[in-house]
Amino acid sequence: MASVKMESIYKQFGNTEVIHGVDLEVDDNEFVVLVGPSGCGKSTLLRLIAGLEDVTSGEIEIDGVRVDYLPPAKRGIAMVFQSYALYPHMNVYQNMSFGLRLAKTAKQIVDQKVRDAAEVLQITELLERKTERTFRRTKTKSCHRTGHCQGS
Ligand SMILES: Nc1ncnc2c1ncn2[C@@H]1O[C@H](COP(=O)(O)OP(=O)(O)OP(=O)(O)O)[C@@H](O)[C@H]1O
Ligand SMILES: [Mg+2]
Repeated sequence: MASVKMESIYKQFGNTEVIHGVDLEVDDNEFVVLVGPSGCGKSTLLRLIAGLEDVTSGEIEIDGVRVDYLPPAKRGIAMVFQSYALYPHMNVYQNMSFGLRLAKTAKQIVDQKVRDAAEVLQITELLERKTERTFRRTKTKSCHRTGHCQGS
């Protein structure tokens, strides 16, 4: 986990301002939910933290390090998208471990983290399944457990 701090965040798309000066501090291990009507800027704010969009102005820190000028890969965080973002040719284990494998994390640590997360989500029995098959067959169950089925 990590802390996140946002100070005076503004985001414009062309002439349209969609984030109007957000100040927000999220502590390490704190659980925060953004709630608001469709189009109010929830996804945009998350995309700004992840680096998938550039801030128009303002500063973002992750664990005390300023990141708003860093590319997404250098920020050390990941994002689960509202729509499916799974690799259908990989099984559940391979999907869950993909980010860590990409970061060249030791195999033993990857294995431990994936199995711990799977246990929390109660999907250990699905780890070896092909993603496509798993989600077609147990869509409702798996979606809710893995958080891949948020409203659009
Ligand atoms: N790439 C973009 N270009 C132009 N406008 C955009 C872009 N991305 C988002 N917007 C606009 O920014 C505003 C905020 O969109 P955003 O997707 O952040 O809302 P949201 O709160 O996540 O909505 P929802 O609850 O429907 O997911 C909307 O008016 C949207 O049309
Ligand atoms: Mg959204």
